[in-house]
Amino acid sequence: MATLKFKAKSPFEENDGRRHDVTDYKYQNYTENVSAQNKTGAPVNVAIFGLGRAGSIHLANIKANPRVNLKYIVEANTSIWDNITQHWNLKGVTFVEPKDADIVYNDENLQACFICTPTFTHEEFILGSLQGGKAVFGEKPISQDPDGTKRCYEKAAEVGKPLFCAFNRRFDPSFSSVQQKVRQGVLGHVQRVKTVSRDSPLPSMAYLKISGGIFHDCAVHDIDLITWILGEYPSEVYVAANAQIPEIAAIDDHDNVAITLKFKSGTIAMIDICRFAAYGYDQRLEVFGHSGMLDVKNDSPNKTEYSGVGETVEAPMYYSFPSRHQDGYKRELDHFLDVIQKGEKMSVTDRMTAAVSKVADACEESAKSGAPVKLSWTPEEIPEDYVML
Ligand SMILES: NC(=O)c1ccc[n+]([C@@H]2O[C@H](COP(=O)([O-])OP(=O)(O)OC[C@H]3O[C@@H](n4cnc5c(N)ncnc54)[C@H](O)[C@@H]3O)[C@@H](O)[C@H]2O)c1
Repeated sequence: MATLKFKAKSPFEENDGRRHDVTDYKYQNYTENVSAQNKTGAPVNVAIFGLGRAGSIHLANIKANPRVNLKYIVEANTSIWDNITQHWNLKGVTFVEPKDADIVYNDENLQACFICTPTFTHEEFILGSLQGGKAVFGEKPISQDPDGTKRCYEKAAEVGKPLFCAFNRRFDPSFSSVQQKVRQGVLGHVQRVKTVSRDSPLPSMAYLKISGGIFHDCAVHDIDLITWILGEYPSEVYVAANAQIPEIAAIDDHDNVAITLKFKSGTIAMIDICRFAAYGYDQRLEVFGHSGMLDVKNDSPNKTEYSGVGETVEAPMYYSFPSRHQDGYKRELDHFLDVIQKGEKMSVTDRMTAAVSKVADACEESAKSGAPVKLSWTPEEIPEDYVML
């Protein structure tokens, strides 16, 4: 055989130094678990406020992470307390009604609070937690309006505790690799960014009525992702939006939205958002630049491809955000713990959260008026590693 001359020595002799690539963060995690070496000290004691869709995701990840210890659950719906206790085997976790939240704020052995209640309640719980000296993991958006968000960050600065806004898409392994490559200049100057975020399943009307509207509830994720990748905020937005679903039209919200963002550097971004996609959670990203393109396709529960007569079929994409973004939520939790335990720099800062909210406001205005909305920025609004042109 002609290749016999290339036959290597035994891998026992030659492969000693081989290590996993840094992008294989799951293997890294595994090595930490298998060596059982605690490198971060005592677990962080935490409380979760609100155990609905978002809170349950964080509860599952907290239970699975040896760096964190759940002490309290603050949940208004007392009828679910018993089921939750049994399902998660929550021995030693204290359930608290929202009216008694002072018990949580005053616990000196508690380091952090996860705020996963409906958006209109965030400010009260964030301010209470910070006042009690806790670090805060706040589900997006931090508050319903810019003034509330400002008050929360002012309090965080006053008490010297981190206030993290959970823009989880930054922690998706694919999206974060796109950001790194773009910032390394792999694409040269970026001309175009496109995101598709079509939700599945359709959220309940009860949720939609208090969601804060599609721009502050959904578009903020895309706006944050795009501006984080580019390190720039738009100078103009234009929105075409309507409601295809009568019940959503009746609450004066939209479910069918196209957003164009224009940047001074010449980049144009397009966001395609819908509240309901019948075929699954459609989540894509494409960045196109002078010297190439980065493309994140939909993800699916398995990679098996079936080929039969006249058809080739792949597994359907993930049904919804908890499964599509499962890895991102876990990495987001680890990042928050790194901020608390190792003093690492927080990925999402007060300026970023405020800027995203300002862009979402402009989108809302454009959707109402049907006209483009110009945006101007002061140096005080621009985060450290973003540019202002
Ligand atoms: N980052 C993400 O991917 C993501 C996904 C979904 C929701 N969210 C955000 O999470 C927040 C919650 O949304 P959700 O979809 O989980 O809502 P949800 O309605 O599913 O859950 C809210 C939970 O909070 C409880 N609750 C309501 N009022 C309360 C109060 N005053 N005190 C304590 N508990 C109270 C409810 O009983 C319920 O269990 C929203 O701000 C939303 O924007 C983020």
